[in-house]
Amino acid sequence: MKNVLVIGSTGQIGSELTLKLRKDYGLNVIAGYIKGAEPKGELLESGPCEEADVRDSQALGAIVDKYRIDTIYNLAAILSAVAERKPLLAWDIQMNGLLNILEVSREKGCAVFTPSSIGSFGEGTPHINTPQDTLQRPRTMYGVTKVATELLSDYYFHKYGVDTRSVRFPGLISNLTLPGGGTTDYAVEIFYSAVKGEEFVCPIAAGTFMDMMYMPDALKAAIDLMQADPSRLVHRNGFNIASMSFDPEIIYAKIRERIPSFTMRYEVDPLRQGIADSWPDKMDDSCARQEWDWAPHYTMDMMVDDMITHLRQKFAAK
Ligand code: SER
Repeated sequence: MKNVLVIGSTGQIGSELTLKLRKDYGLNVIAGYIKGAEPKGELLESGPCEEADVRDSQALGAIVDKYRIDTIYNLAAILSAVAERKPLLAWDIQMNGLLNILEVSREKGCAVFTPSSIGSFGEGTPHINTPQDTLQRPRTMYGVTKVATELLSDYYFHKYGVDTRSVRFPGLISNLTLPGGGTTDYAVEIFYSAVKGEEFVCPIAAGTFMDMMYMPDALKAAIDLMQADPSRLVHRNGFNIASMSFDPEIIYAKIRERIPSFTMRYEVDPLRQGIADSWPDKMDDSCARQEWDWAPHYTMDMMVDDMITHLRQKFAAK
């Protein structure tokens, strides 16, 4: 990994991954973006930026040639709740976009990371200690595209030797860029309300457990997997990775230990609740641990402390 294209570099994962690869790894990283979501500030100033819409394969090919790209992080995605409202758009970005990236990578020899998700599972999947290899019959468009992403990425590896690798991300908690339109977004938004001194209206019901992860661990996973020794990889696309699992009551209690005046009430959103109910409570990530030494660093308490500290700094600076 030397010359990297991050597609979706202004999104929740991309904004932090691009900066980390540039600063901590000293790589030449092109920040790919779409019209209307142009890079700003440090992202813009710290390295090259190019418009990279996954639906435009010619433009993708030209960027790969121009910068001699060897690795593509494909982070363009329509998250689960929005995908239910705009299923055709989700298909277009997630599937037609992926096909373009895989074709360019086949022709030009790039490695490709395209995230899968807890959303790739469905109601019939075991929800506790969800195995690496198990039933995947999601009924959401997001889930359908994520299962297909895993399969298509595997196909390009087996048929053409394209070095495709990916993880099934849990809900990601971060303090730089907000997610948009996901089912797990509540676990980020709750911190913004707490730090701003506002009541939080929770769209997910008490008792709904989902896997969650702090962004630094998610970035570590995305980088470590792409650097892993390929001879050790039995799986490729869609490694379960786990860190913490909680429901709204647990995260609320953790925040109240630090901000006792914080209040929360429930206004359950049937769309997001239905999606959450179909997802695992907690995945088994032993294959990732065995095949590329995956291990998260952040405990829930460390994550809560860090989120509150960073968001306080962010709002104090405004
Ligand atoms: N965070 C995503 C969502 O909620 C799941 O991968 O849609």
